[in-house]
Amino acid sequence: MTARNVLKPLVRAAMVTALIIILGLFPGIPVGIIPVPIVLQNMGIILAGELLGRRYGTLAVGVFLALAAVGLPVLSGGRGGAAVFVGPTGGYLFGWLLVPLLLGSLLYHLPVQPTRHWWWELLIVWSVGIFFVDLVGAGWLAIQAHLAFSTALISNVAFLPGDLLKATFAVFLSRRIRKIVHLEAGGANQ
Ligand code: BTN
Repeated sequence: MTARNVLKPLVRAAMVTALIIILGLFPGIPVGIIPVPIVLQNMGIILAGELLGRRYGTLAVGVFLALAAVGLPVLSGGRGGAAVFVGPTGGYLFGWLLVPLLLGSLLYHLPVQPTRHWWWELLIVWSVGIFFVDLVGAGWLAIQAHLAFSTALISNVAFLPGDLLKATFAVFLSRRIRKIVHLEAGGANQ
């Protein structure tokens, strides 16, 4: 393996981390019913799994979350610090860390190739990037905010329209990028 092949996916991971941080410049929009805002950063998390696969996608998201944990203001609204991880949105952040692992595994490591059909890819991205994250997020929110799990979960309906749009756009963008850039050499298959 050449130095170029080692560096390429690392540079791509760094670019995706930067993209997630940039998406955080858009302040979160409060929904009122629960203390969890509508954000754009979850689109970047999906892109990490889509474009980088499980290993480098997890690296990109892991670095982003580590920066947030040490206190850098990289989360929407300029937030950061370890306390965020035990706050109302902690479950969503934990879910984000698992998204590239799950997405990468389902998209690139099955005998079938879901990426050959856009509707399969969309279904997988919706399931992992939206429904899985909402499940984990609502689970922790229920504990943290002393809510019934069903109440916490149903509140996530407020995110659905936006999340469906963001996830669909991420799939569209990833499919275009994959056509232009050959990610197999050191990205999506890793
Ligand atoms: C944070 O910045 O502390 C994490 C915010 C988590 C927001 C969740 S992610 C899934 C759902 N969709 C959104 O737009 N907001 C919530």
